[in-house]
Amino acid sequence: MASYYYRLTTAKCFDYLKKELDFINQNYEFCDSVFRKLSFLLHIAFWQGIFKLYRAIDVKFKKHTNGSFFIHNNKVEIEITTECNMKCFHCDRSCRQAPSKECMTVAQIKHFVNESIEENKKWPFIVIIGGEPTMHPDIYEICNILIDYKRNHSPNTKLTISTNGVSRETKEVLANLPDIIHQENSSKTSIKNTQFFTFNVAPIDLEQYNQPGINFSNACSTASTAGSALTRYGFYGCGAAASIDRVLGIDMGVKSLKDVTDKKYRTQFKVLCGYCGFFKSAEDDIYELEDMSPTWHKVYEDYKNKRPELSLYGSNKIRPAALKT
Ligand SMILES: C[S@@+](CC[C@H](N)C(=O)[O-])C[C@H]1O[C@@H](n2cnc3c(N)ncnc32)[C@H](O)[C@@H]1O
Ligand code: SF4
Ligand code: SF4
Repeated sequence: MASYYYRLTTAKCFDYLKKELDFINQNYEFCDSVFRKLSFLLHIAFWQGIFKLYRAIDVKFKKHTNGSFFIHNNKVEIEITTECNMKCFHCDRSCRQAPSKECMTVAQIKHFVNESIEENKKWPFIVIIGGEPTMHPDIYEICNILIDYKRNHSPNTKLTISTNGVSRETKEVLANLPDIIHQENSSKTSIKNTQFFTFNVAPIDLEQYNQPGINFSNACSTASTAGSALTRYGFYGCGAAASIDRVLGIDMGVKSLKDVTDKKYRTQFKVLCGYCGFFKSAEDDIYELEDMSPTWHKVYEDYKNKRPELSLYGSNKIRPAALKT
């Protein structure tokens, strides 16, 4: 709650509110002006207020009950590329630690849209993410495919691009994107983000988490807030889990939307959350930006020596030629 209060009391929050209002004005024209503003307030109250409150209560509750975190299946973060122009410490996509230029193909994005239509899945939230998504060579085509899906099949989908907003090229792409795509710009100024969770301090390497009472399939609050993920290797319960599998090479991605179940995501979490520093509770996250636990040292060393090969999302016809390196 402290960070929410902080956000609402800093000048930056007004920029944020203005951007949200602009987005709603541009995309929800079925409302008159007063109604639009009301829906805007509800939107902010719901997503920025209630959800943060929910998250704070949930974290406290789960801590005491050891219960499982809700999986947010109505949101999907599509990691269109792993390439990034920054190399942040503890990046939860391992862009610094295991850099790669892998991309999803346009065919895979079309396959995602076709599957969503076939399953009558009207995603409330789709986030175009990376790595740095603006670096995808087909970024405009991918955006257009998702915009068509929104216009023709799911008008209430909120399309967002999550970007670091850093380079000249990135800024140029952002400036060229239509307003229908909401921009969530973390405006990074450094690769040292002191507020980051220490992703690379794995709970399985810590005594207090490496014991029978700990159930990694419970996941963490990120599964409830950031939502599920799609990469070129399939669907995952969250983006960090997908990224861990990319580096480990277990190949746990669900390869088809119709096969996605909470149970399958829990099976992923059971293994992958054990590696993820986000699983630690805030008071256990006492580590530094450059800290990395022994398991991660070994995993990245193995990755450097030989990249794992995972099976691809979509048709068998999508060959690894899609991978740039
Ligand atoms: C994986 S990044 C991809 C988008 C873009 N490259 C960026 O950094 O904004 C998506 C979000 O995850 C956040 N993130 C990455 N690693 C994190 C960590 N270890 N702790 C907290 N947030 C993290 C980033 O700051 C960003 O807001
Ligand atoms: S900018 Fe984003 S994707 Fe790139 S290294 Fe930093 S957190 Fe990771
Ligand atoms: S992989 Fe990490 S971020 Fe995702 S649910 Fe597990 S602990 Fe949370």
